[in-house]
Amino acid sequence: MYAAKGGRANYFKKKGVIKVAEKVRVLLTEKEVDDRIQAIGDQISRDYEGKQVHLVCVLKGGSFFMCELAKRITVPVSIDFMSVSSYGCETKSSGVVKIVKDLDEPVMGKDVIVVEDIVDSGRTLSYLLEMLKDRGPKSLRLCTLLDKPDRRVVKVNVDYTGFEIPDEFVVGYGLDYAQRYRNLPYIGVVEFE
Ligand code: IMP
Ligand code: MG
Repeated sequence: MYAAKGGRANYFKKKGVIKVAEKVRVLLTEKEVDDRIQAIGDQISRDYEGKQVHLVCVLKGGSFFMCELAKRITVPVSIDFMSVSSYGCETKSSGVVKIVKDLDEPVMGKDVIVVEDIVDSGRTLSYLLEMLKDRGPKSLRLCTLLDKPDRRVVKVNVDYTGFEIPDEFVVGYGLDYAQRYRNLPYIGVVEFE
């Protein structure tokens, strides 16, 4: 694991002239994350007793969380995936959301839970939830592993939250920095030296 090895990954800018070292500091351990996912799974199983839940995963970040969550839900579950991209720089979303991959199945008449890795400014989710609402689901809820409430610029109603975290750039459990670190089994903060 990156953290166990001293938490260091070297990143060379073009032509190798400037060297920027990154460290990953553990914010939430694997056990803390797993225990919290179990608790959310239990809660969803109670809330949807006698129903089927349709989990909509927002790729790529939400995929690790959704798989772990789905395994812990005891009512019938179906899953679908969509991919959106927000135009912007690497650590900020711009508010302009593009659907890169749409859902395979209609959500009409289904009890839908959108599963996300993190709600930051709220722009992506606010757009996505409005779009899905127009497609006529029976119910529509939002479940996010992480929430950075201090960063919110658009109001988003979150129904299930794993952890509220401070305004720091995090990776792991599906979350990336420049497409890396998604595979970390814990949540860490990227620190630049
Ligand atoms: P929002 O539209 O600003 O809420 O941003 C949502 C998306 O930005 C998330 O689904 C993530 O893909 C990405 N994002 C926001 N904060 C972080 C972070 O701390 N680490 C990694 N990705 C993040
Ligand atoms: Mg995401």
